[in-house]
Amino acid sequence: MEKLLRNSFMFLSRNKTMTKLAKKYGLRFGAARFVAGNTIDVAKEVIKQLNEKGLDVTLDYLGEFIVDEKEAAEAANHCIKAIEIIGNEKLHSQISVKLTSMGLDISKDVVLSNMRRILDKAKMHGVFITIDMEDYSRCEKTLQIFKQLKSEYDNVGTVLQAYLYRTVKDVEDLGNYQASLRLVKGAYKESPNVAYPDKIDVDQNFKKIIKIHLLNGHYTAIATHDDQIIEYTKQIVNTYKIPKTQFEFQMLYGIRPEKQLDIVKDGFKMRVYVPYGTDWYGYFMRRMAERPANVAFVIKGIIKR
Ligand code: FDA
Repeated sequence: MEKLLRNSFMFLSRNKTMTKLAKKYGLRFGAARFVAGNTIDVAKEVIKQLNEKGLDVTLDYLGEFIVDEKEAAEAANHCIKAIEIIGNEKLHSQISVKLTSMGLDISKDVVLSNMRRILDKAKMHGVFITIDMEDYSRCEKTLQIFKQLKSEYDNVGTVLQAYLYRTVKDVEDLGNYQASLRLVKGAYKESPNVAYPDKIDVDQNFKKIIKIHLLNGHYTAIATHDDQIIEYTKQIVNTYKIPKTQFEFQMLYGIRPEKQLDIVKDGFKMRVYVPYGTDWYGYFMRRMAERPANVAFVIKGIIKR
């Protein structure tokens, strides 16, 4: 049953009509629990509240699978505006970007030009940019673009997904680039030809790549809500005396907020991924697919309105 629900949400997350309707009718149906708001002004207040609690942020202007060059340039402009606000108001926030929102599906030149505009502005303001990882069909292209940008800029990192068979090789390869990496389980529906279908194997691979990247001495963001993975990381950093300046934990906005604070209280860095913007539908559906229990939460929220 859980698998069926997960597949349905993953299917819905890519439905174009539903995406259009969602944009038109705004942040309804409980998505507000996972999305900070429609505008940067609202998102800015959320960042401030999180910062006051000792939480760092990575801000994501929602949008993906853009195929129009003008729209991609617009998305880059939104990121640039957010960087200026973060810099000017001295917020503790980085930026996360999906390359398909910057024109990955249009051309290499378009995506590179938009990313360079973002990275130039981010460099001026001392803001770090993480390139999110999307579905498998875009993984290799994303890594190629990352490597190119990393040769030009210090303030860029990317994400690797533990569910992919290729990831152990990628984590070793990106170590040669001194890459700062966010490690995650992986959120897209992938074929068993390329990704572990069973959670137990994903978890095992997750632990493996965490250990490799930390022991190779590179900055590691462990992005998970899973206690078992968090405890494993604490054990590794303890055993191998990894300094606290070399790693951080990350979680998504609206998921396990109490746990986020507990991690800060324990003296670790915790960064919250805060999405904002009108294009929230695909993101929201992936959160539903991860944890069908969230559906009950959302339905309760709608009934209460
Ligand atoms: P999982 O979903 O297996 O959950 C493990 C356990 O965590 C659960 O059994 C439960 O105990 C607890 N838990 C989870 N949700 C909970 C909830 N709502 N309430 C209470 N307990 C809960 N993916 C991707 O493909 N590309 C990317 O770029 C990113 N980026 C990214 C950034 C950040 C900051 C995070 C946290 C995640 C991503 N992801 C991602 C998503 C990631 O791949 C993954 O889909 C989700 O984090 C869910 O996986 P978990 O590791 O949390 O474990």
